Amino acid sequence: MEVDDALFQEIKDKVAIPLNILANLVKTPSDVFLAKINKETHSIEFIKIMRVGAVVSAKLISLIQKLGLEEVYVPSPRLGNLVQVTQEAAQAVIQNQAVPVVTKAKLLHDSAKLLATVAIKEKKIGESVQGASAYVDTVADFVHKVPEAMGDLAQMLTLDYSLYTHSVNVCLFALCFAEFIRLSPKEAKALSMGALFHDVGKTRIAPDILKKPGPLNADEWQVMRQHCSIGFDILEKHSGFSQQSLLTVLHHHENMDGSGYPAGLKENDLPITSRISKILDCYDAITSTRCYKTGLTGYEAIQQMYETMLPQLSQDLLTQFVHFLGFLGRKAGRKGTPRSASLVLGNQTNGASAPRDQK
Ligand SMILES: [Fe+2]
Ligand SMILES: [Fe+2]
Repeated sequence: MEVDDALFQEIKDKVAIPLNILANLVKTPSDVFLAKINKETHSIEFIKIMRVGAVVSAKLISLIQKLGLEEVYVPSPRLGNLVQVTQEAAQAVIQNQAVPVVTKAKLLHDSAKLLATVAIKEKKIGESVQGASAYVDTVADFVHKVPEAMGDLAQMLTLDYSLYTHSVNVCLFALCFAEFIRLSPKEAKALSMGALFHDVGKTRIAPDILKKPGPLNADEWQVMRQHCSIGFDILEKHSGFSQQSLLTVLHHHENMDGSGYPAGLKENDLPITSRISKILDCYDAITSTRCYKTGLTGYEAIQQMYETMLPQLSQDLLTQFVHFLGFLGRKAGRKGTPRSASLVLGNQTNGASAPRDQK
């Protein structure tokens, strides 16, 4: 279905969730709706298809799939319940030997999308942090026991940038990279939680700055750079967020040579979780397509990071990240907007590929 973004932004009380989340529940913890766009009145009508507590049947899921829909809608106030039930369902699916690895990876990817929806789109940080804690434990255990699942997870990450998809991508990269370099469980959790919420401060930045298609002026830059400390302030109120996760959020734009923000810390003063998040954040931003630039391929992104960003990045960790991408191999090709020849040329001639919040 072709969706008008502006139209959907007007919806205050219902939230789109992946159909796959519903499909893996035994019973729905909330009413479930389908959205129907009335083109004549330019409005959206919701059709209730399930009541709270109803059993989720394979037949209904199949019918919705046949309509070509990948999302259903739930009332925003019920999201907390949905997050909790989804984490329980995901754990059960992961432990089920009969379920294929790729199906498990899809559910984990959709679970991350749900957590990011709750935090970024709905700004329900407490509900999301609570669910995320159980979520990162589940994924960390899964990729530890089934390392080949990392390729499946990487393949599901999207190239089209939004704050929400970027948060999902960086979190899943963090979980897999932490396993790849055998980070301690405590640091892996701090990194992954920090990664999912690293840009949550941007939800408080004015949309005209956040979504400005052109370059930001000095004043706008000053505002944009506050997102690290704003994110820290938002998250420190939540007990499920560890001190190291908070530092990961606060320092994800620090550069190893001390030229970053907000504190201008150098490599030796930064925890490993901040040094890793810097690399993952850059890589996802460079490879993603935004309104003002197209994404580079993984190879080009690494080339750019080595050629123009090396003083800002931990060389040792960057080397390990390149090995990690090699490990993911061809499976890590991500879906999204294909690059056009003109945009590619534009990148090469005017440097438009640089993600502006990495400058
Ligand atoms: Fe950021
Ligand atoms: Fe980011």
